[in-house]
Formats: sequence, structure tokens, C-alpha cells
Amino acid sequence: MNKIKKCLFPAAGYGTRFLPATKAIPKEMLPVLTKPLLQYGVEEAIEAGMDTMAIVTGRGKRSIEDHFDISYELEHQIKGTAKESYLTEIRSVINACTFSYTRQVEMKGLGHAILTGETLIGTEPFAVVLADDLCDNEDDGVLKQMTELYEKYKCCIIAVEEIPPEDSNKYGVIAGDTIKDSSYTKGSLIRVNDMVEKPEPKDAPSNLAIIGRYILTPDIFDVLRETKPGKGGEIQITDALLEMAKIGKVIAYKFDGKRFDCGSVDGFVEATNYFYTKEKS
Ligand code: G1P
Repeated sequence: MNKIKKCLFPAAGYGTRFLPATKAIPKEMLPVLTKPLLQYGVEEAIEAGMDTMAIVTGRGKRSIEDHFDISYELEHQIKGTAKESYLTEIRSVINACTFSYTRQVEMKGLGHAILTGETLIGTEPFAVVLADDLCDNEDDGVLKQMTELYEKYKCCIIAVEEIPPEDSNKYGVIAGDTIKDSSYTKGSLIRVNDMVEKPEPKDAPSNLAIIGRYILTPDIFDVLRETKPGKGGEIQITDALLEMAKIGKVIAYKFDGKRFDCGSVDGFVEATNYFYTKEKS
């Protein structure tokens, strides 16, 4: 049985790269085709067997709560018409899980956002999804692959992919030793021994970048409480994970699947084209 039931979605950021679109609309609500980014993330978590969605929001994010709720007026209006089918998918998402919210009052970084979510997570291992990293796979989703790994290794698991060296300053970058696991054929595994948040290319320990999927053990909260502000003066999850990596508790997973950086306009357009072509085929 899959033990990870909770998924945390840090969703308090301003989305400045998408202004003016994100002036009044949370970036997590920007749609790829007709579905908001956050809904893709929630569906990925449900596919991985999770049923408790914990969302760290901020000011101006109330439409997220409305999205994962019933809109009686709208449903009444379209009841019995062909348009009813447009709501089938979101209805089944709402029925499959619960949503709880807490607000990050000050933006002090991803590590701080995750620590803010402690009140919703408690003392269980949990997943973290950054909704602007949109993932897709024909076979099992990335989070499902990672929860299976967790069941075997019982430590923090982070998704990584190869990036062009010149992009290292956009990501957390890891280094470590390959784990030989012949029972595991989908992706490859690395026991992490170093990680740096957004290094310049000359300082990057490798070309393996962290993408927005993590499985974390609850002891991460104690480490985060002690983590000093790092890159950009923010509390970085990468710095907290480095502490766990020093005691061998972090595995990086080169996953099977596609990932789009929907935090950038280029990645967003790429994702839109990809999902459009997929839908039409
Ligand atoms: C965050 C993390 C970074 C990671 C990235 C993945 O950065 O801090 O380590 O590589 O997400 O998308 P952000 O993109 O929020 O600046």
C-alpha cells in the first residue's frame, strides 16, 4: 500500500514573470489548454495515491480555493446541457481528495513556504509539487514513480533532469554517486552528496537540476527551522536537503517523462503545444 497520502503545493509566489496576466490571477491558475497548472499537479498526486492536498497560499490566491470547490450557480446554469461534461474532470478531482490551505504571510523562499505547510502535514512523509513544473508521462506519472522509490528507500527523493550547463543558475543543482539497483529500470538513481541553489555555471557541481517534485520525510521541518537564509536572502529547501544529504538521506531520481518549465513563457508555450497535439491525436 502506498503510504504517502499528503501532497504540499507551495503556491504563494507572485508569478512576476507572467505579469500582467498574474496581477489578479494566481500563476498556479494559468491554464494550459483549459486546465489550470495546479489542477495538473493535483491530478498527478491523485494518480500517485494521495488524497490530502495541502496548499500554501498567499494574498490574492482565493480563486484557488474556489476552483477546488463546487460552483452551485454555474452547475445549475449548465445542468442538462452538453456543457456539463466540461466540469466532469474537476468534479472527480474534488471527490477524490480533500484540500486544506494555509497562508504564507511573508515571502521568505521555498524552504520557508514548505515549513509554513508543516501545520497541514504533521509528522508523515509527504510530497511537494511545484505546479509551474508541469510533468507528463505516457506511463506512470513522475510522482507515482517517486512514491514507489520512497517505499523502497525510505528517505528524501528529489526529481532531477539534465540541463544545459549555462542554465545552472535557474535551478538547484546536485552531485552524487550512482546507485546500482538492478530491480529499478525506469529511471536512474543517485545518492546525493552535494547540492547548490542556483550556482553560476562555473560553480555547478554537475548538469543535474532539481525539478519541482520532492518526497520529503517530516524531519525536514526541524532542519528547515535551523536553515539560515541562503541564495537571494531566502530560506532554501536545497540548503535544508544538503544537511539531509550529508547523512546519506537524499536520493536524486532521473525520472521517466517530460517536464515543462511553465514558470517561463517559452516553457508555457511549449507545454501548450505539446498538450494540444496530444489531445488532437
Ligand atoms: C525552485 C528551487 C530550485 C529548483 C526549482 C525547480 O526554484 O529553489 O532548487 O530547481 O524550483 O523548478 P524556483 O524556480 O522557485 O526559483
